[in-house]
Amino acid sequence: MNLLVIGGGGREHAIIKALRKHHPDAQIYALPGNGGIAADAVCVPSIGAKDISAQVEFALAHQVDYAIVAPDDPLALGAVDALTAAGIPCFGPDAKAAVIESSKAFSKDLMKKYNIPTARYETFTELEKAHAYLDTCSIPVVVKADGLALGKGVIIAQTLEEAKEAVRSMMEDKIFGDSGNCVVIEEFLTGPEVSVLSFTDGKTVVPMVSSMDHKRVGSGDVGPNTGGMGTIAPNPYYTDEIAQICMDTIFRPTIDAMAQEGRPFRGCLYFGLMLTPDGPKVIEYNCRFGDPETQVVLPLLKSDLLQIMQATTNGTLAETPVEFSDDSACCVVLASNGYPLSYEKGYPITMSEAAAACTYVAGAVSKDGQLLTSGGRVLGVTATAATLPDAIREAYALAEQVHFDNKYCRDDIGKKALAALEGKK
Ligand code: AMP
Ligand code: GLY
Repeated sequence: MNLLVIGGGGREHAIIKALRKHHPDAQIYALPGNGGIAADAVCVPSIGAKDISAQVEFALAHQVDYAIVAPDDPLALGAVDALTAAGIPCFGPDAKAAVIESSKAFSKDLMKKYNIPTARYETFTELEKAHAYLDTCSIPVVVKADGLALGKGVIIAQTLEEAKEAVRSMMEDKIFGDSGNCVVIEEFLTGPEVSVLSFTDGKTVVPMVSSMDHKRVGSGDVGPNTGGMGTIAPNPYYTDEIAQICMDTIFRPTIDAMAQEGRPFRGCLYFGLMLTPDGPKVIEYNCRFGDPETQVVLPLLKSDLLQIMQATTNGTLAETPVEFSDDSACCVVLASNGYPLSYEKGYPITMSEAAAACTYVAGAVSKDGQLLTSGGRVLGVTATAATLPDAIREAYALAEQVHFDNKYCRDDIGKKALAALEGKK
């Protein structure tokens, strides 16, 4: 069997390792992949994640049986549409459904229309109107660029002046490019955050084990936002009772709303939730697996990932087993010191065999058989264990067995979750 994975980060590495678990003999291609993924798949560095026509050509030439489009950009650009049109079944939403992530204005309007709980908001394309509205808002207030901005298009303004400046810099200075032509101004919510990834075939929705990301670069949640410095699963704030509320008020209504709008969503729909004093609310939708959430969620999946993915394409998810282990998982991201601002790269990476088995590589190239750092987030190390404290301990022990110059990681991944668990006792 020939499989194709589009993308080249830690998430894609985790997907490939999960596919391998039940399909050890499959031929897996990664476009472009990376130096670390090359240990588990045939990587083609010359075909980028956004190179859709080259991807289709490659898939046809290599008789790909099933393709998985993992990152947001190719999904928004219609990679699934193009592959499907060429006769290659694939995992992921088409461009019409991917808009749930690529336009915050779309997703906010969808939630308003279908009564799905989210922060109150207004959408603006004119600076004066946005500024006039801000005069009526309570502070802090949240300003978001409408389009994709690599997770950085969100500013939580602590003063009215800061909020006005944020809107101005997005609309006039275009700090997020065209993503800032339209801005969303929304109410500031409080409460623990939970990530829930789900499989859906457009009719049935099956949530995966919940997780918690750690977005700030520094221990204790300080410093700038990053792509994610580590994750744990399951998220102890996400109780069975809350899960049921989310299913009834958020997950099912979202899947039904997308179908109703003529944009049935197939693939992985990621719900970024905040558990507010007024109940769970949607902070954001992503039209794809989260990174680094995937690095803790998929290692806990017991069922055959490929079979589930194919069921989302074929509309047979209701009849397909999706089973997760009761264990816990912790992923610690090892980054280049200085990330997300400036950092050095090109340092050799070495690691023990035990660490290599649980490593998902994000930013590394292979040169003459040696792995070298090439990105801000270099790799993630995931441990699974019967309890969360054991998973955290084990992940940090494995992280010690990975070596490269300027290695940096947070020292408190999972700490908040442990405190929540203590609180429950
Ligand atoms: P987003 O890119 O929409 O996920 O936002 C990034 C981060 O900003 C989220 O993970 C939250 O921590 C924070 N955030 C976004 N929207 C709000 C909001 N309405 N209230 C409070 N925090 C928010
Ligand atoms: N970890 C958040 C994301 O993938 O967008």
